[in-house]
Amino acid sequence: MSNLLELQDIGKNYGDDVILSKVSFTLAKGTAVAIIGHSGGGKTTLLSIMGLLQKATSGTVLVDGQDIDSFDPHRLAKLRGEYLSFVFQRARLINSLTALENVMAPAWFIGSGENVEQGAKALLENFGMSHRLHHKPQELSLGQLRRVSLARALLLKPPILLADEPTNDLDPALADEVAECLLAARTGGTGVVIVTHDTGLAARTDQTFRLEERTLRPA
Ligand SMILES: Nc1ncnc2c1ncn2[C@@H]1O[C@H](COP(=O)(O)OP(=O)(O)O)[C@@H](O)[C@H]1O
Ligand SMILES: [Mg+2]
Repeated sequence: MSNLLELQDIGKNYGDDVILSKVSFTLAKGTAVAIIGHSGGGKTTLLSIMGLLQKATSGTVLVDGQDIDSFDPHRLAKLRGEYLSFVFQRARLINSLTALENVMAPAWFIGSGENVEQGAKALLENFGMSHRLHHKPQELSLGQLRRVSLARALLLKPPILLADEPTNDLDPALADEVAECLLAARTGGTGVVIVTHDTGLAARTDQTFRLEERTLRPA
C-alpha cells in the first residue's frame, strides 16, 4: 500500500536562501506525526509544500503514490480538494459568514450536500461552541476561531490533515481539547501532521521529527 504522502529529497530556496535541504518524509494512513523545531526553521514552509500550496525547488512530492511534478494548477487544486485539509496558524475564516457557515463552506464548494449541516453542528457542539453557531468571526475569541477552523478541517474527513501550531495561544484545557480532536482523526484513517512547540502534544503522536539545520530527523 502506498503512503498517503511522501516527500523524497526535498529542497526549498527563497532566492539565495536555502530553507530546506534533503528532506524525506512519509505519512501512513491513520497515523499522526509531530514536527518540532526552532522558529524560522522552515516548518511552515515544509507544511505548505506537503499541502501543495507551493512547490519545492527540488525533490519529489507524492500524494497517494501520484507524483505531482507534472500537475497543472487545476489538477493540483483538485488533488488538494480531494486529499488535504488545513488548520492554519491564523484561522482563515470568511468574515461575512457565521461560525456554522464557515465550517460548512468547503463542503458547499465541493458540492457535498446532505448531512453537512448536521455534521458541522455536531462538531461545533463537541467543541463547546453550541452557543456561538451563528456568530461571525469578529465576534469570536481566538480559541473559538481555532475551534471553528478545526471543525471546518475535520468535517470533510480528509485523508491528510495538516495543522500549523494548532494549540498555540490556547489555554491548557482548550489546547488539550484541540489536541484530542486532531489525534482522534486517526481513527477514521486520516494521516495527521502537526507542527508544534508543544512537547506534550508531540509526545502523544506516533512519531516526532525535528526540523533542524534545514532537514528533518527523527527526534
Ligand atoms: N515567501 C517567502 N519568501 C521569502 N522568505 C520566506 C518566505 N516564507 C518564509 N520565508 C523565510 O523562510 C524561513 C522559514 O520560515 P518558516 O517556514 O515560516 O519557519 P517556521 O514556520 O519554522 O517558523 C524564514 O527565514 C522566513 O523568513
Ligand atoms: Mg511557522
